[in-house]
Amino acid sequence: MAAESPLTIEQVDVEMDRLIGPDIDSASLYRRWEKQQWAVSDLDFSQDKADWLSLPEGIRQVTQNTMTLFFIGEQAVTDTLAPLLHAAPREDERIFLATQIADEARHTVFFQRFFDEVLGVGGGLHAALDAVTPQATEGFRRIFDHQLRDAMDRVRLNPSDSRAWVEGVVTYHLIIEGYLAITGQRSLLRTLKNVGLMPGFRTGFTAVARDESRHIGFGVLALKRRVAADPAVAGVIADKVDELLEPAVRTVVPTDRKLPIVDPRDVPEPLRVNGLALRDFALSSLAKRLLAAGVSAQVVQRIRRDAEALYESLWTEYESKHGVRHPVRFYQEGLVTAPAL
Ligand SMILES: [Fe+2]
Ligand SMILES: [Fe+2]
Repeated sequence: MAAESPLTIEQVDVEMDRLIGPDIDSASLYRRWEKQQWAVSDLDFSQDKADWLSLPEGIRQVTQNTMTLFFIGEQAVTDTLAPLLHAAPREDERIFLATQIADEARHTVFFQRFFDEVLGVGGGLHAALDAVTPQATEGFRRIFDHQLRDAMDRVRLNPSDSRAWVEGVVTYHLIIEGYLAITGQRSLLRTLKNVGLMPGFRTGFTAVARDESRHIGFGVLALKRRVAADPAVAGVIADKVDELLEPAVRTVVPTDRKLPIVDPRDVPEPLRVNGLALRDFALSSLAKRLLAAGVSAQVVQRIRRDAEALYESLWTEYESKHGVRHPVRFYQEGLVTAPAL
């Protein structure tokens, strides 16, 4: 594999929008999986090791935190997807979910190798996970340790409960993959691309993002089918999103630890991330998927307004906990600019 990925995150985003379109079925998602194979063992991390040490300390901390959450997240989703496959009523859904389990295992191996070779957190998957687990924040723990595991336990214990299955897909495919992962992928890949660093990580992580775009496309397709068969399912989807919204937004706006960056003007411009633009990108992505799944425009708009208010209240909570302004205020007040997301 070449050092520079021929695939860009912009192309992945365009494809992601196409994958929730009306002409996509699970056979076309499966065919994409066959054609879009990649290997962790093909990646070359030699440049990444030198690049990592050249990043400013505060940026390294923020970046390693995000990567750590991805590592734990990939491991959690690898471990919890099997019940959804087992309980899927249709053969084409079980076939697609089997491909997804293989993808999630590959994503876990990708992070394990990157942590071992570049970040120096080695000793195998479990040692690496032990080393990173204490860094998970409250919102993250609520989503991955409680919401995801509870949702999948309900599916596992009662595979014929179609409501549990829908709620599992909302938790897994719409919120974790379609909102949380999208936010982290976009900020990490754009930042590292802007500074031209860590080509091995970017190549692998862009391939991860393309895998995720198929998974999200499948989640939307599965929900759309259930809403078409029974319009009341749109209400089940909206209720589950409402329940998950607060811990999900809390995961991307953690307030329990003070950020290593107080004033974004101290950060070189190519490494800055505008939190307002990131919020708009993530919430627009979520809104598109909810609409494609069959939730009404009015409800989607209401969810979006609720989510925006949550960001605002968590930024304020951060400020009262730590006695400093949240970095996003510098963007709100036009005191600093960042490259477009
Ligand atoms: Fe994944
Ligand atoms: Fe995924």
